[in-house]
Amino acid sequence: MQLVFCTHNAHKLKEAGSILGQQFEYLTLDDIAYHQDIPEPYETLHENAQTKAMTVFMFRGLPCFAEDTGLFVPALNEEPGVKSARYAGEHGDSLANMDKLLKNLNNLNDRKAYFRTVICYVDIHGIKYFEGRCDGHITESRSGDSGFGYDPIFIPNGSDQTFATMTLEQKNIYSHRRKAFEEVAAFLEKKNSAEQ
Ligand code: IMP
Repeated sequence: MQLVFCTHNAHKLKEAGSILGQQFEYLTLDDIAYHQDIPEPYETLHENAQTKAMTVFMFRGLPCFAEDTGLFVPALNEEPGVKSARYAGEHGDSLANMDKLLKNLNNLNDRKAYFRTVICYVDIHGIKYFEGRCDGHITESRSGDSGFGYDPIFIPNGSDQTFATMTLEQKNIYSHRRKAFEEVAAFLEKKNSAEQ
């Protein structure tokens, strides 16, 4: 079964493949020659994920899934939240995003934070959503150079290491995305066996 993962982010693709396993053939946006950026203008992860999945489904007609993730900090009114990728202005400037977050948390004792992932899956039968969450806290400074985004400043509960100092397998023990993709995997397995 071919599945399109609506992302240009190689890290996310690797994470998804390591969880969903090898029973599917994963196609990226490049594989289906979809080269445009899909905007994420909405105020919720659900709307952004759905727009990406629907846009690509309409383009190619293959089952596809898209995800949207945010880092939420309750002490900062849930910022950066749905705007995590462009918190400091330019889309995807992780160093600037982390600097801004560390600055905004300066002198605050409550450094609790959580990642939340919403995955939208679309095929000819309709739309389904899956979710995952990882609670933890924001460090005082950056540590590690693996992963991406806010990984160098986020420590999940139950660990004393930032995501950026972990291997992918270690990150997957805690990861928001792993939890959401496990739900997708269970759904697809059930769907596959019902169709056979
Ligand atoms: P996206 O819109 O789903 O690509 O994610 C928004 C932003 O959240 C990304 O650009 C990253 O900065 C951040 N992000 C998403 N997932 C992770 C993660 O697993 N670790 C660290 N940062 C992440």
